[in-house]
Amino acid sequence: MRALVVGASGMLTEVARWLAEQSYQVIVVGRNRAKLERVRDGSRYPHLFTLLPLDYGQTDQLREAMEQLIAEQGHIELVVAWINSTAPEAISTIQQVLSRPKKKWSLYHVCGSRAWIHPPLVQEVAGCSYHRIILGFVCEEKGSRWLNNEEIAQGVIFAIQSKEPQTIVGSVEPWEKRPT
Ligand SMILES: NC(=O)c1ccc[n+]([C@@H]2O[C@H](COP(=O)([O-])OP(=O)(O)OC[C@H]3O[C@@H](n4cnc5c(N)ncnc54)[C@H](OP(=O)(O)O)[C@@H]3O)[C@@H](O)[C@H]2O)c1
Repeated sequence: MRALVVGASGMLTEVARWLAEQSYQVIVVGRNRAKLERVRDGSRYPHLFTLLPLDYGQTDQLREAMEQLIAEQGHIELVVAWINSTAPEAISTIQQVLSRPKKKWSLYHVCGSRAWIHPPLVQEVAGCSYHRIILGFVCEEKGSRWLNNEEIAQGVIFAIQSKEPQTIVGSVEPWEKRPT
């Protein structure tokens, strides 16, 4: 089994390591190789990691890297992607290339809280099971706060295990209580 984690060296670090614990070969994407090395070196299964340093905002570079990955490693069953709004073509580029082998795969798309109000438009692609994960916030006695990395990683792992089409980590209601 192979999993691709895009934006792997921040809040998804523990998700990438958990996937290795589940016996996935894990390909981790980020721009900075040293940060990706830290993700791998903090795992109990570093030999299961492949580092793929690239800028997902460079669409041609991303497409070529995905094509090379599939040619060299074969089918990718699972993708977890945290992609910021500076790269609006990245999700569809990944979808197009990974769907070419005509085998089933799952995309877990991690989105910021605004996706609750304005869900991102993601095309349906044959073979791709799409799952949205919305990162909300935490309401506390005095106000609210954003999620921390541990809460995000646990929520993403729960979403992968539950396989629901949409998972909300934390809360998105009452919306007016979100942190400013
Ligand atoms: N609703 C919430 O509560 C919420 C939502 C979002 C964020 N947060 C918090 O805010 C913190 C910071 O968020 P963040 O957005 O900076 O996320 P992050 O997950 O901490 O870091 C972003 C990840 O994406 C990679 N990346 C960024 N731009 C890239 C590009 N163009 N190409 C390839 N990889 C790229 C980064 O590595 P490189 O820099 O090496 O490329 C890194 O691995 C998080 O750690 C989290 O705790 C909370």
